[in-house]
Amino acid sequence: MKILVTGGTGYIGSHTAVELQEAGFEVIIADNLSNSEAGVIDRIAEITGTRPAFEVVDLTDVDATGKLFLKYPGIIAVIHFAALKSVSESVERPLAYYQNNIVSLLNLIREMECQHIPHLVFSSSCTVYGQPEKLPVTEDAPFRTPWSPYGNTKQVSEQIIRDVCRVSSFNSILLRYFNPAGAHHTALIGELPLGVPNNLVPYITQTAAGKRDYLRIFGNDYNTPDGTAIRDYIHVVDLAKAHVAALTRLVERKNTQQAEAFNLGTGKGYSVMEVVQSFERVSGVRLNYRYVPRRPGDVEQVWADPSLANRELAWKAEQDLDEMLRSAWNWEKRLMER
Ligand code: NAD
Ligand code: UD1
Repeated sequence: MKILVTGGTGYIGSHTAVELQEAGFEVIIADNLSNSEAGVIDRIAEITGTRPAFEVVDLTDVDATGKLFLKYPGIIAVIHFAALKSVSESVERPLAYYQNNIVSLLNLIREMECQHIPHLVFSSSCTVYGQPEKLPVTEDAPFRTPWSPYGNTKQVSEQIIRDVCRVSSFNSILLRYFNPAGAHHTALIGELPLGVPNNLVPYITQTAAGKRDYLRIFGNDYNTPDGTAIRDYIHVVDLAKAHVAALTRLVERKNTQQAEAFNLGTGKGYSVMEVVQSFERVSGVRLNYRYVPRRPGDVEQVWADPSLANRELAWKAEQDLDEMLRSAWNWEKRLMER
């Protein structure tokens, strides 16, 4: 079964390509390499023993997107990771974010309709909930006014997909990721942030590696046990496996609605300080950090109720926080060797 994975040389896409190939799917990766490297294809081949097909394609280019589907007839489903993902950059460059994330989705769906490809798995985010009133957050929690253009592209994309499902035979699963972290146990693939990382875990490993002077902990005056903000960190390999489960649900037509949303988290929240302590524990490295004021737009605490995904996808996150930090550190060390 041929699966198109857009954004497949990126962080979550590359780990998912590995899991898909290991589950017996044939993977075609399309990526414009705006935030990843073509060498990732070699690493996927090294891990799985199979080289996925790879095309450098910008999905905002409608002609190139059309040609991609013509070149690979028989694709049965698409997993759409390709997007720009920096919250802060999206505030500075809103048009670039709307152009990239929305236009690529529209082009993709249009081409999927032309080729009668009915299944789409989409990368959404817990950012759609903002600061939820009730924790853990369930899928029926209301969306909050998005704070960033990035967050808005996720809300709008979900709405576009739902609207298309309503009037066609299109089926989609919207996966709302909490905070992905960690790397493949081989340390052959992992997160490759270009420039200064925004996210906590790569900032921690880069600080420990000496690339950054110190970690700024954004806020220690939150209403949480240690005063730092709480998130639901999920191992990227667990996340990748959830995509295989979602895809299988679609192709086996086990979905109960044409557009279904699932939270992908562990169901457990950890504070920034607990993440730092976990890192120090597994790496044996003392981390240099300082408390600084809260980061604008950050929510105080959010963690998932993943029970719907646990039940319907027969999937459960298995790896703990220590394993996320251990694998992230192994990956950082591998990058240093390079
Ligand atoms: P990533 O940047 O590592 O991967 C995205 C890939 O998409 C990159 O390889 C990039 O080159 C490619 N891409 C971007 N625009 C493209 C375009 N127009 N045409 C073709 N390729 C394009 O990001 P990631 O962390 O792997 O995230 C994957 C998806 O998950 C994104 O949609 C992101 O918004 C979403 N998401 C990520 C997180 C997170 O914390 N990493 C959390 C929630 C949701
Ligand atoms: C954000 C977005 C999410 C997006 C994800 C990936 C929100 C609410 N969430 O998650 O939608 O998909 O990024 O880009 O916008 N922290 C520090 N120091 C740092 C970095 C982070 O203290 O140098 C803290 C943050 O304040 C936060 C936690 O660590 O409390 C996690 O931050 P981060 O990894 O950036 O993820 P989110 O902001 O939760």
